Amino acid sequence: MIDVEKLSKKFGTRTLWTDVDLTIDRGQMVALVGPSGSGKSTLLNCLGLLDRPTSGAIRYDGRDITRFGRRETRMFRRDVLGYLFQNYALIDNATVRDNLEVALRPGRATRNQARPRIVQALERVGLAGRDEDTVHHLSGGEQQRVALARLMVRQPSLVLADEPTAALDRANTEMVLESLREMSRSGCAVVIATHDDTVRDVCDTVFALEELSLSRA
Ligand SMILES: Nc1ncnc2c1ncn2[C@@H]1O[C@H](COP(=O)(O)OP(=O)(O)O)[C@@H](O)[C@H]1O
Ligand SMILES: [Mg+2]
Repeated sequence: MIDVEKLSKKFGTRTLWTDVDLTIDRGQMVALVGPSGSGKSTLLNCLGLLDRPTSGAIRYDGRDITRFGRRETRMFRRDVLGYLFQNYALIDNATVRDNLEVALRPGRATRNQARPRIVQALERVGLAGRDEDTVHHLSGGEQQRVALARLMVRQPSLVLADEPTAALDRANTEMVLESLREMSRSGCAVVIATHDDTVRDVCDTVFALEELSLSRA
């Protein structure tokens, strides 16, 4: 589904990574590992069109997404991508339900038809009946589970997760991993930047970024 070809990223004169080749298939879970500062987030952001590589290509179903214009970028973000962040990225002063409803794509389903999907996603992450709670009253683990439920409602084909378990205890980490695995079983590709060996161990593939300056020293 995704073919990363000879991708390089420089900030000024500093090369973050170079000649990255990586293939990500549908249904696959990939762990992106490497020391802090090795450029894991930057690579995820390039895959998510939030940053641009210096050279190389990222093909999605054969098309180089790094060359997408505004309109294609917007459609890719809307129709393909789902992001999961360490800091949850929810709307703090809105309810759980509002946070899930924003994930609904216009034209796909009416609110009423989407309702069962929201209920099901909340059940799946252990937050059944918590629709009306305001997000800032929830614990960190619960907030990450809301973010996960939002992804389930959205049904993206590619999930990019940046240290999604870094702030979580073991039980919440497992919940997040099981849910991501479930999404991958339904055909979604999942890329997780992580320091966490628990996360690394459940992934199908591990891709390691090295600190270039360190490995050359
Ligand atoms: N916009 C930027 N301009 C300059 N340097 C940056 C920029 N974004 C990230 N960096 C640098 O790139 C390096 C890798 O960052 P990051 O991708 O966040 O690594 P990781 O997620 O593996 O910890 C860091 O040293 C960071 O300071
Ligand atoms: Mg990072």
